[in-house]
Amino acid sequence: MTILGIESSCDETAVGIVRDGDTLLSNAVVTSLDLHAQYGGVIPEIAARSHIEAIMPVISQSLTQAGCTWDDIDAIAVTEGAGLLGSLLIGVLAARTLAIIKHKPLYAVNHVESHLYVNFITTSQVATIEPRKTQPMFPILGIIVSGGHSQLVLFKDHFSYTLLGQTQDDAIGEAYDKVAKILGLEYPGGVKVSQLAEHGDAKKYRLPKARMAAPYDFSFSGVKTAVLRLAQELVGADYSLSSLKLPGMLTDKQKTDIAASFQRTACETIVDKAVQAFAQYTPKSVIIGGGVAANTELRRQLAARIPIPIEYPSLKLCGDNGAMTATLGCFKAMRGMPTADPYSLGPKPNLSM
Ligand code: KG4
Ligand code: ZN
Repeated sequence: MTILGIESSCDETAVGIVRDGDTLLSNAVVTSLDLHAQYGGVIPEIAARSHIEAIMPVISQSLTQAGCTWDDIDAIAVTEGAGLLGSLLIGVLAARTLAIIKHKPLYAVNHVESHLYVNFITTSQVATIEPRKTQPMFPILGIIVSGGHSQLVLFKDHFSYTLLGQTQDDAIGEAYDKVAKILGLEYPGGVKVSQLAEHGDAKKYRLPKARMAAPYDFSFSGVKTAVLRLAQELVGADYSLSSLKLPGMLTDKQKTDIAASFQRTACETIVDKAVQAFAQYTPKSVIIGGGVAANTELRRQLAARIPIPIEYPSLKLCGDNGAMTATLGCFKAMRGMPTADPYSLGPKPNLSM
């Protein structure tokens, strides 16, 4: 079962090819990130236009990298949501058209769910991507940490899961990106904040962790506002000072200590709940996915506090990619899940797990 997966939910046009849900044949990604950086966030219209230009070349590139022709592809998988409407639309329309003209079954994939599915890849024919050594075993505790989502999910089996909790406001990646702005770092700032944090004192500033009514829910808007107030106080200003002025007024030492203190608190917020869920549900495996899954501090805290070994996905498979879409598509096909109608499948910007 060889599946070509198309992912276009945000600013990456990505196409991956995966065989039998565990073997990565190719992973081609083109990003329009450079075009958005100057605006401090993804501009939906620019992202959609970039997808139109990139989608067919990236599909060709992925087939070439895999050494496949369309005859080798058994089905197409595509991200139907969640994501930006205009971005999703391009991937979905490309997948629908190809499914019709190449006579391939079509599988619609949930972006957030697929972030976790890269953990099932254990063989890679792509030299730059080192796969996990073993497949996760059910029951699985899944931790999704991305720019749009922060969720804890308990999988009993494929396609049988319970959403234990999720953020009630900002996602952890979004909080990283907002703190990056306060520190004068370019969008998206997650990696840059974590690099800065390496040189800082993570215990220098005490930042709040939100208390939630439901045990596994998160909130990241409070810690983000606390960082803003802290920075305003450190430069001796009142709370009306624009965050845009802060990067020029904070010292380098203050910036590194803010980055380290924020990172410790944000990662602890996720890991505290993951540890609690682990104790309650005793899963056989713990897996993480999403852009922030690349974060070293999060990985370090999880390894230190979860009492079973954790295998982390390759850094190249943490952010948005088509391999994750193809992998989840493989499991849908192998488990006989329903196909999507290539004449009517539409993008679902608010799709949840
Ligand atoms: O999963 P992803 O590529 O896109 C979404 O589906 O949202 O995640 C992007 C997010 C951004 O907020 C980015 O700043 C963050 O992941 N990110 C990181 C790191 N690498 C990416 N945050 C913290 N540490 C990192 N190393
Ligand atoms: Zn994502």
